[in-house]
Amino acid sequence: MAQPLKIGNYIARYPLIQGGMGVRVSAGRLAGAVAQCGGIGLVAAPGIALNSGLYNGKNYFKADAEAFKAELRKAYEIAPDGIIGVNVMVALSDFELLVKAAIDGGAKVIVCGAGLPMGLPELTADHPDVALIPIVSSLRAAQLIAKKWHKTYHRLPDAVVVEDPDTAGGHLGEKLENIGTGEYDQYATVRQVKELFRTEYGVDVPVIAAGGIWDRADLEHALAEGADGVQMASRFVCTEECDAEEAFKQKYIDCRQEDIGLIMSPAGLPGRAILTNQNNIRQYDLDQHTPCRLGCLKKCSYKESGERFCIVTALDRAQRGDVETGLVFCGTNAWKADKITTVQAIFDELFGEEQELLEAA
Ligand SMILES: Cc1cc2nc3c(=O)[nH]c(=O)nc-3n(C[C@H](O)[C@H](O)[C@H](O)COP(=O)(O)O)c2cc1C
Repeated sequence: MAQPLKIGNYIARYPLIQGGMGVRVSAGRLAGAVAQCGGIGLVAAPGIALNSGLYNGKNYFKADAEAFKAELRKAYEIAPDGIIGVNVMVALSDFELLVKAAIDGGAKVIVCGAGLPMGLPELTADHPDVALIPIVSSLRAAQLIAKKWHKTYHRLPDAVVVEDPDTAGGHLGEKLENIGTGEYDQYATVRQVKELFRTEYGVDVPVIAAGGIWDRADLEHALAEGADGVQMASRFVCTEECDAEEAFKQKYIDCRQEDIGLIMSPAGLPGRAILTNQNNIRQYDLDQHTPCRLGCLKKCSYKESGERFCIVTALDRAQRGDVETGLVFCGTNAWKADKITTVQAIFDELFGEEQELLEAA
């Protein structure tokens, strides 16, 4: 049976982190519901200002920080004693500002992907209780972070998420040409990262598997293969509590396995998404003649030279229900969604007693 998950000073009843889903797909409502059910709920930082009612067309970064705190408050209203944290992409222009806002908002856990969070411990130095969790896709990335944090800040990650580029949704930490080749071994990487901390540093750091985990069999497989817990994102989209509009969720329900594939993000990383409307996304920016307005990413080919499309506004349109011109990120399992359910029903399926499952069958 699944054991509770200890991360830093926090113990989650169930070994499950709800993966951060940017641009208000996982905001306060979903994060709060997951935390209330005994998992770790994450409010995702990217584009949180958009569709928040706080952005007035001029104050993006200020609104980002305010909206982030507002969503954390919402999550804590739902789960006052829950483990609520954030996902902040290192690639964001306001990464530092958002980490500070997360701390002000009472985040207990900070998960960082889309880049290596080399300086993160410095930003949180006055708040040692906040658990720090980098997302990596390779042993090499874990080695680099551990070495830098240990040497410079005398601390190590409180957990590490190992994200599988062959299955996860959103931006992926691997070159486009290396994805889907069959070379990558998710659980070998999980075990290597676990071993790194044991042998080099003599500590047992929880390693969390992310990507392609959908049902109880996947969860049990991940734990049997050496993961201490799982991070799941796509599975939580088709819930009443997910913060995206209904049309976004319906896109998951309607999509076929062959509709899911890879795009090249203007951030310079590949991303996994539903591909059925890809031409409309670029066309939208051409029709609107909109140059970059926000500067939300440190490096972005749309910001720099108008190449590709504006990813944050494309994700925002989808989140608001315009799935014709908007970008719907998803993992390879999204086609398995066949109805809108609740976060509690997912937890019951994943962690309910065997007997209860038999009775429900
Ligand atoms: C709609 C969507 C948005 C995502 N946004 C982010 C994000 O903002 N930051 C991040 O680190 N990961 C993001 N991810 C990745 C997830 O947090 C997670 O690690 C991954 O999708 C796990 O695979 P699964 O979807 O198969 O469970 C996103 C995934 C999806 C499906």
